[in-house]
Amino acid sequence: MSTVKFYRPEHQVPLEMHKVRIVQKLYLRDVDERLRLINEAGNNTFLLQNKDIYMDMLTDSGVNAMSDNQQAAMFQADDSYAGSETCNRLRRAIQDVLGLNDFLPAHQGRACENILAEAFCKKGDVVPMNFHFTTTKAHITRLGAKVVELVAAKGLQADSIDPFKGDFDIPRLKQFIAENKGRISFLRIETGTNLIGGQPISMANMLEVAKICRENGIISVMDASLLQDNLYFIKTREEAYKNKDTKEIMHELCAAMDITYFSARKLGFARGGCICSNNQDLLLRMKEFVPLYEGFLTYGGMEVRSMEAIAVGLYETLDMEYISQGPLFIEHLVRELDEYGVPVVKPAGGLGAHLNASAFFPDMPHSQYPAGALAVAMYIAGGIRGMERGTISEQREPDGTERYAELELLRLAVPRRVFTLSQIEYVADRVKWVWDNRQLIKGLRFVEEPKVLRFFFGRLAPVDDWQEKLVAKFKADFGDSL
Ligand code: F0G
Repeated sequence: MSTVKFYRPEHQVPLEMHKVRIVQKLYLRDVDERLRLINEAGNNTFLLQNKDIYMDMLTDSGVNAMSDNQQAAMFQADDSYAGSETCNRLRRAIQDVLGLNDFLPAHQGRACENILAEAFCKKGDVVPMNFHFTTTKAHITRLGAKVVELVAAKGLQADSIDPFKGDFDIPRLKQFIAENKGRISFLRIETGTNLIGGQPISMANMLEVAKICRENGIISVMDASLLQDNLYFIKTREEAYKNKDTKEIMHELCAAMDITYFSARKLGFARGGCICSNNQDLLLRMKEFVPLYEGFLTYGGMEVRSMEAIAVGLYETLDMEYISQGPLFIEHLVRELDEYGVPVVKPAGGLGAHLNASAFFPDMPHSQYPAGALAVAMYIAGGIRGMERGTISEQREPDGTERYAELELLRLAVPRRVFTLSQIEYVADRVKWVWDNRQLIKGLRFVEEPKVLRFFFGRLAPVDDWQEKLVAKFKADFGDSL
């Protein structure tokens, strides 16, 4: 995005510094079909078909638009099993952009997490982090270790407007370390904290956490999957970094960590995963798992063309004109919704806009999954596919009781460089309609509930006929319009 000023300030909008050269046709089904389709999909947006979706805001993972330079690089991919030049090019990009000497490849972010967990976690261990991510937690708990969240209180307050809600609570971290000496597998810092609304963590906080780790002999691990947005926020919200180059910030940050891993489905506008470090001993502890689970050390399950795209995409991660696009579109959407009175997580973060479902439905029992119900309502209202980030995304406790999420959010992800501003305006319009009709919306109940990562495949049903009532109201308000 550029800083170009509009002649009429009241019409100031984010301005793209790129143009679209490949398009994909979209379909908007009518409201009766949307009702039928979401029920066929078990009221789970993961089970909808893309051909039935107008705005796919499920995720920013693997759906970011590639640049012409990335596509060009993909043509020169070197397929050789061992000694591939593609692998060398990706390593050089990691050295240059992240300032880290070496890396292990994996097929995506969760594969990096599997390797990390296998290498460092054992039964009875604890893994502190600012906040968990679903796949991270699943890998750690599978091995009998426990995840402990140490995010500062502001991170869980949907109405706090602190610029860095992903920060660790430092006093709690120090106390935690003192009480758990000897059983900490590693500490994980999640940049752009996903499950609490894509909220960034400050450079100051990350550097302090890394220092505490060093002083206590704890391995510091940074999940940099959402670092692109976080980098933008460091530069725009943290005074000490306003005049620093993005590359300088990146190098300072990565140098402070023992291990940096990322999902290249997010960082690098491509697909794949990398575990990077300057510490050969640590890489050695993880190395054997790459050929075991992923593939040979030169590709680790990644397609060579994707590796070329990552190598170029990492450089684009340092370009403020590219990396500001997501946060500025999200800010635009959040501002519109906020001004209308819609409860939305503020300040606008990265990744997407996050609607606060608990505030939409203050009387809905937690056991009826408010964020899941809101996801279904958004699809019925506008063919918009968001992702439940609330209790359905949690795992039940070992004794089978529900673990109620601290925040019941519906995430409307904004994949990078993909949507136009008029599409974002459409989303704002339909969210406002759902907000105005929220009293019609009731909850959901599970009819099929998988034990692990239930949000992916679980099937639910509405608790009564609220969906038919919502459709009738839509027709009354919009007539023949889709
Ligand atoms: N870490 C973070 C912070 C993530 O957001 C994700 C994925 C992963 C790790 C796992 O990476 O998908 O490549 O295996 N987040 C996606 C999302 C799934 O929709 O938020 P992956």
